[in-house]
Amino acid sequence: MTGHTLWHGRFEGGPADALMAFTASLPFDVRLARHDVRGSQAHVRGLARVGLLSTEEEGTILDALAMVGTELAAGTFAFATSDEDIHTAIERRVTELAGPAGGKLHTGRSRNDQVATAFRLWVREALTGVAHQVLGLQGVLLTRARQAGSAYLPGYTHLQRAQPVPLAHHLAAHGWALSRDVDRLVDTLGRADCSPLGAGALAGTSLPLDPAETAAELGFSAPFDNSLDVTSDRDFVAEALFALAMLGIHLSRLGEEYVLWSSSEFGFVVLDDGYATGSSMMPQKKNPDIAELTRGKAGRLVGNLVALLVTLKGLPLAYNRDLQEDKEPLFDSVDQVGLGLTALSGMIETCTFDVAAMAAAADDQTALATDLAEILVRSGTPFREAHAIVAALVRASLSGSGSLAELVAASPHFGHGDDAAAGDSVRGLFEPGAAVARRASPGGAGLGPVAAQLERLEATIEADRVRLAAIEPADPIG
Ligand code: ARG
Repeated sequence: MTGHTLWHGRFEGGPADALMAFTASLPFDVRLARHDVRGSQAHVRGLARVGLLSTEEEGTILDALAMVGTELAAGTFAFATSDEDIHTAIERRVTELAGPAGGKLHTGRSRNDQVATAFRLWVREALTGVAHQVLGLQGVLLTRARQAGSAYLPGYTHLQRAQPVPLAHHLAAHGWALSRDVDRLVDTLGRADCSPLGAGALAGTSLPLDPAETAAELGFSAPFDNSLDVTSDRDFVAEALFALAMLGIHLSRLGEEYVLWSSSEFGFVVLDDGYATGSSMMPQKKNPDIAELTRGKAGRLVGNLVALLVTLKGLPLAYNRDLQEDKEPLFDSVDQVGLGLTALSGMIETCTFDVAAMAAAADDQTALATDLAEILVRSGTPFREAHAIVAALVRASLSGSGSLAELVAASPHFGHGDDAAAGDSVRGLFEPGAAVARRASPGGAGLGPVAAQLERLEATIEADRVRLAAIEPADPIG
């Protein structure tokens, strides 16, 4: 039998070992320790403000909480077998240290509002941390895009070579997807920004507590409006899990490209030795494990989201013990995304792009078919007709009648009769890299528009840094 829990008074005897083994959450919610202490400090000050604690009692409990914080940080906190979760462990220890005053800590409070408060504080810290890491990866992509200069590679649709695009444009594309992830994380934090403290078990309390004051003290914008809702609301956890799953899916798509690009078949990138792995049997192998695991872990991130959604489905108001299942999925998703972002950022920062191999693949003349059709359009040919003319030339080239450039040069549609301008235009197009140098449409894959785009991406990253700074608690949980 385990020792007595904080709620044993109503029960005869202690809890069965099997009950504790199955229901205890201490092994994982110990991660909420600092946030629980922080919530308890705010609660104690609130109790003192309305006269439920004397100034002396307030001081005694705050000193005990500070000591608990020190013990937890130093790893000297002694857990008892009766500690069901971090919240009861901290209250037990405060009571040991503070004597009778410690018995007043839980006045007007339930673990239901306490857990929700600590978890929201943790989520604020964790998601701002992830968002900063995303900004870091965006910064790496931006730097590599600037370094790429006028390098270009084939752009693909259906994984078939489609049109040449600047490498910078490709790198920045992932940067923009990541900016939506930052946006989602910030948005999630907006809805997590509500203090549950004062909601009690489900109904508030008959004591004169002021949830607005404790909310402000904890850096929340507002207290809850409905005690039943806030003690059972885990929307913010589900949203965080979705934001992380979507981010993980973006990382998996990025990772997949490095798996392809580092293969001999593509040969577009060489990974730094520090960011690649070898084979235990095949001495020649150099494998892109970071990129593969980024891809692989996305499944787990989606699983964590689905696990919580299924847990929440059909739960009646208000708190149910099922809600204890909210933490492990989010801890796991935050950890995995954090590790992945660090590894992937390092991998991309240190890799070597083989721009000659990229250019050789992109200089495939048939990739210029769309640009050829557009040259005809410029001199008045309807696009559908231009498409058919170029398609016929491509078909002839593929059946061995000559290179596309030769067939175009001989074609009556290009540069003959009245259309000398098209002739000049078409000769230049077959120069390596000409297609991307010429392309001018805003947001498109031309060198001019890409330069402007990189400025906007940098400004977006900077603006997001400012947004995050505004969310971060003025008094971080130490
Ligand atoms: N460890 C629990 C959780 O995370 C604490 C809440 C228990 N509340 C209760 N009313 N039994 O949900």
